[in-house]
Amino acid sequence: MAIKNLLSIKDLSKDLILEILERAIYFENHFLDSQNFFSDHIVANLFFEPSTRTALSFELAAKNLGIRTLSLQTSSSSVQKGESLLDTLLTIQSMGVNASVVRLKEENILREVSAELSMKLINAGEGTIEHPTQALLDALTIYKEFGTLEGKNITIIGDINHSRVASSVIDLFALFDMTVGLFIPEEFGSLNRPWKNVKLLPLDDAIKDSDVLICLRNQLERHEKTYISPEEFHKKYGINAERLKAFADTSIIMHPGPYNREVEISSEALLDSRCRIQQQVQNGVYTRMAVIEGVLNG
Ligand code: CP
Repeated sequence: MAIKNLLSIKDLSKDLILEILERAIYFENHFLDSQNFFSDHIVANLFFEPSTRTALSFELAAKNLGIRTLSLQTSSSSVQKGESLLDTLLTIQSMGVNASVVRLKEENILREVSAELSMKLINAGEGTIEHPTQALLDALTIYKEFGTLEGKNITIIGDINHSRVASSVIDLFALFDMTVGLFIPEEFGSLNRPWKNVKLLPLDDAIKDSDVLICLRNQLERHEKTYISPEEFHKKYGINAERLKAFADTSIIMHPGPYNREVEISSEALLDSRCRIQQQVQNGVYTRMAVIEGVLNG
């Protein structure tokens, strides 16, 4: 499998996505076989926005493949002295780094920058528009649960207009004829994305009718003002045991994380047997192993 760069889910065909998922499952089942695959390679992590699971799972994924890793402390780097993203990446490339994993707030600059580099780039989250490896690990979680992605009924609940996860998963789901229903709390306004393959639903229908319920965090760091208190949000919209009474036994709850307990989801719902949030985190490591391998082969 070979991937040139991974900047967007739109860069991947349906067949390539399935290859990545199968390769991730291979890595899950043949963990020890992979440890010397890329021992002469170096991957750098550059996170200009906070991260726990994406940053650590990329680092762990690389180490599992025998890769040496570097992590730039962006808050104390020369970016603070005005060095541009391109010049930062050119500097890292000159040190012999084979691929960089980048998270940033600014949108639509990664592709332009990648054209100036021989080093490979992987998008680890870009403003509100892209989080391709999160979409892949979410797809892997659904694929392992149901044995297929085709025709599954997905609902996404919450701060959808600010969500790069929603953006990337909806692009991926479109390739597999999956039905996508959305519920946006009224305080967050109406849908401002141009998606064609979605329908807006009331909250109760979004819960009742889905195979997979994806719950999102309120991205307060991207809001211009406070629209609703956390307590009021939980009361009106939070996923809790009462609302989950209408949720099918065979359906699953997902959340990309980080989650805020007793805001968009209750502690009780996190313990529900249908909750797959920790499996998503585990799948993230194997998915990122497959992506790093694909990009280094690309
Ligand atoms: N899902 C996700 O991107 O989480 P982090 O911000 O912790 O990386």
